Formats: sequence, C-alpha cells, structure tokens
Amino acid sequence: MLEPRLTTLLFFLSWVIVACPIAVKSAIGVNWGAISFHRLKPTTVVDLLRENKIQKVKLFEADSDVLKALMGSGIQVMVGIPNEMLPLLSSSSSAADFWVHQNVSSYMGKGGADIRYVAVGNEPFLSSYNGQFQNLVMPALLNIQQSLVKANLAGYVKLVVPCNADAYESALPSQGAFRPELTQIMTQLVQFLNSNGSPFVVNIYPFLSLYGNADFPQEYAFFEGTTHSVTDGANVYTNAFDGNYDTLVAALSKLGYSQMPIVIGEIGWPSDGAVGANITAARVFNQGLINHVLGNKGTPLRPETPPMDVYLFSLLDEGAKSTLPGNFERHWGIFSFDGQAKYALNLGLGNKELKNAKNVQYLPSRWCVANPTSDLANVVNHMRLACSIADCTTLNYGGSCNEIGEKGNISYAFNSYYQLQMQDSRSCDFDGLGMVTFLDPSVGDCRFLVGVTDKGSHSSTSRTTYLWWVLVLILVLHGTFWL
Ligand SMILES: *[C@@H]1O[C@H](CO)[C@@H](O)[C@H](O)[C@H]1NC(C)=O
Ligand SMILES: *[C@@H]1O[C@H](CO)[C@@H](O)[C@H](O)[C@H]1NC(C)=O
Ligand SMILES: *[C@@H]1O[C@H](CO)[C@@H](O)[C@H](O)[C@H]1NC(C)=O
Repeated sequence: MLEPRLTTLLFFLSWVIVACPIAVKSAIGVNWGAISFHRLKPTTVVDLLRENKIQKVKLFEADSDVLKALMGSGIQVMVGIPNEMLPLLSSSSSAADFWVHQNVSSYMGKGGADIRYVAVGNEPFLSSYNGQFQNLVMPALLNIQQSLVKANLAGYVKLVVPCNADAYESALPSQGAFRPELTQIMTQLVQFLNSNGSPFVVNIYPFLSLYGNADFPQEYAFFEGTTHSVTDGANVYTNAFDGNYDTLVAALSKLGYSQMPIVIGEIGWPSDGAVGANITAARVFNQGLINHVLGNKGTPLRPETPPMDVYLFSLLDEGAKSTLPGNFERHWGIFSFDGQAKYALNLGLGNKELKNAKNVQYLPSRWCVANPTSDLANVVNHMRLACSIADCTTLNYGGSCNEIGEKGNISYAFNSYYQLQMQDSRSCDFDGLGMVTFLDPSVGDCRFLVGVTDKGSHSSTSRTTYLWWVLVLILVLHGTFWL
C-alpha cells in the first residue's frame, strides 16, 4: 500500500523541483502615502488592505501609527527613509543605529510588523534635484546596513534605493544606459544590492511620458496594442512599460548585472486633474498592467521573468500633495481619500473587484456652499484663499468639476475649505457669502466631499488623559496626593 503513495510523493516532489525555478510570479502591492487633509485611521486602512488581500505595502516614512497598525497583520512592509534624512544618516553611524532601532527593530518580532525592505531615500537621483542627494546615498546605505547587522536583521531586512526611470536613458531599449554622471554611483549601488540579495527598485510612469510630451503616442502608454510599436532589432515593443523596463535591463547588463531582480516601486495612472487623467484611463491602465505582469510573459530582454513585485501608485488619493507636477498629483489613488473604490479593478489577488473601506468615520453629512441670495461679485478673493489652502484641483481644465459653472466653482471651493477645517461653522462664513446645507451639492462626476476624521472615540490622547485621572484617583485614595 505504501508503493503508490510513495510514487505520488516522488512525482509531487519532482514537480515541485522542476516547477519552482521557472515559476517566477509577480506580486501586486501598493504604495500607502499619507499626505492628506483627511486621513483615515491607520487601522481602517490596514483593514482595507486585508479585505483586498493586499500582502505588500510600501511606505514613504516610518510613521509609528501606521507601523503599529500593520503589526500582526502579516502584510509585508517596505519602509521609506525621506531624502531629507540622508545627510544625517550618511554622516553618523549612531544616527543610523538609532533610526534602525526606533523605526525597524522596535516593530519586528513575533506579532510585529513584517518589515522586509528599507528604502533609503526616494528617487534621490532625480535630475531635478541637481545631484543634491547623489553622494549621500552610498554612505547612508553602508551605515544603515551596519546598523541592521548589529541589530541582527541584515539577513531579513533588505536595503533598496527606489530610482526614478530618469536615471537611465536611450532611444532604443537594447541601448539603455544610466545617465553618464550616475555611472560610477550606479556601479557601486548595484554591486551593493547584488551582494546583499536586494532588487533594483524603479518607478515607471507612462502617464508622465504622455502628459509631458505632445508627440507621445497615447496607445503606447497602455497595454491594448498600438499602431506605434517600437522596433528594436528583432524585438518589437507595443507598450511603454516593457520598453522602459528593458531599457533598465540593458543598463544593468552594461554594468555586468543582467540578472539583477527588478521591483517596480511605483506605477499607476491618475483619475482626475488633467485631460488624460480620468477614471476610464486609470482603470484601463492599471488593469492592463496587472494582467500584463501576472501573465508572466516577461519582456523581450527578460522573457519569463516579470518584475518581482509591482507596487501600484497609489492606494489612496493624497489631497495635500504639492501640485507642482500637475493637478493630477492629488488623484493617483485606486481608492479615493476615504477608501472608496473609484473603479472596478481585479488586483489578481483573489477578489474580483476592489472592496471599499469599512467603518470610515465621516464628519456629519453637511456641506458649505455659496449663499444663493448674496451678491457674489466680491467672492473671487475668498475663493482664491480657500483654494490656496484646500484642494480645488478638480475644478481645472480636464478635471471632474470643471463644468459646474461659476457658482458651482465657488461652492466647491467653500466646501473644500469647510471640510478641511473639520466643518468648523466659522469656516463657512466667507463674509456672509457661504452657508451650510444638508443637501449633497455633488453634480454628475463632480463630488463635493465630506471630510473624514482619524480621531477614534479612544484616541491615544484621551486614553492618556484617562490613565492620568485613574492615577490621580489611586493617589487620592491612598492619601498621598499632594497639592
Ligand atoms: C523614524 O522615522 C520617522 C519618520 O520618518 C522620523 O521622523 C524619525 O526621526 C525616525 N527616527 C529616528 C531615530 O531617526
Ligand atoms: C481619458 O483619458 C484618455 C487617455 O489618457 C483619453 O484618451 C480620453 O479622451 C479621456 N476621456 C475623457 C472622457 O476625457
Ligand atoms: C471654474 O474654475 C476653473 C478653475 O479656476 C476655471 O477653469 C473655470 O473656467 C471656472 N468656471 C467658470 C464658469 O467660471
């Protein structure tokens, strides 16, 4: 009776042995940024991740509330170090020790946060930084690596440096090379990554190529086929992602690391704030991308080896981000700021569509609008002020609220400001031009938001106050209270 079972087992084992090396499978993760006026409670966001079976998350900072919420979730975490910290961390090994202690070690262990990567800097070689951070990256990496070794975490937590795709260039993918001024530092970086078993992390944005370049063929940004394919020797590229990815593969090969694993640190499509940024385009791009990488076909230069992990940019809209890159910058989320899915998307993680955040704590259902009886002639300055503080990006050309008329514009601006001020009644005054309404003023695709609050009924401050009073009471009861 043992015989058939043994055969089955052997068959199974041989299958495992044969299947594993070629079964390279991409995993879909998300970037969780928090530059928002209306932050969801971190625990609400972690529940959102779990409901959507998202197993990998990338953070831009080691926010302690976020990391605490991730503890025990089983979700793998990439923690970012902002560029502004690189001067300190590159020059002081004790600062690096302290960073690792406070922002990594203290969350790890059983029931902790599963930190797998630390991203040292964020796009530190971006050309627009003019080399400001360039020479800080290697020293910071070496310091933090030493700190991880001391903390006994170096085997588990890998260091990476997310690079913008502007680190390399070429007309054709096969001729890809890093920017000349980066050759030396890239050589050191890639050596370091290779010796520590870390991947190369790159951020790729076909949307920005399209947005910034009038000649860029629109279909080439997507994954649906194109009449503008790029022929590179025997290889034909039908989408910007593959072309960009292989340019990096070629650049890495030039340095002698043709096999270096690649992780996509950021990729996505905004849904508002510019003509090419809308719900349909965002859905088509993201779904196309997910199907493409999960299809395991790889690229011409890396057949059968798709990127290891792909972190979508982004999980949630971040309404307080700088609009310097464009008004779309606040609209990258697959979910709106309050955790509501913007469109149907199959992440390939088990659910067929996105599930909305649960138990979101909204402010009351009320809005601030322009008072219909008042003369709006003097309103321009109020509107300008409101929009300089609150988010009005959807009002602009290409935005979802661009066509709501002059009065609609004013109401939208007033409401954005009012919600940002947590519906403080004084913030809807505008010299008597504003009024609070209980009827949702949203029109069509233009949504007038209601703010959310991340203050639970048991916020840590109220809990601390509560504990103080308990302590005072105990002391009073013991008769040891002094005044
Ligand atoms: C931990 O990370 C946070 C957020 O990035 C930062 O403000 C803090 O300074 C870090 N701690 C240390 C000791 O560097
Ligand atoms: C949405 O964006 C796509 C490309 O980014 C564009 O072709 C299309 O016209 C846009 N749709 C609308 C309704 O603006
Ligand atoms: C509403 O505001 C936007 C942004 O300032 C502007 O482009 C648009 O023309 C305005 N609409 C009207 C009717 O004034």
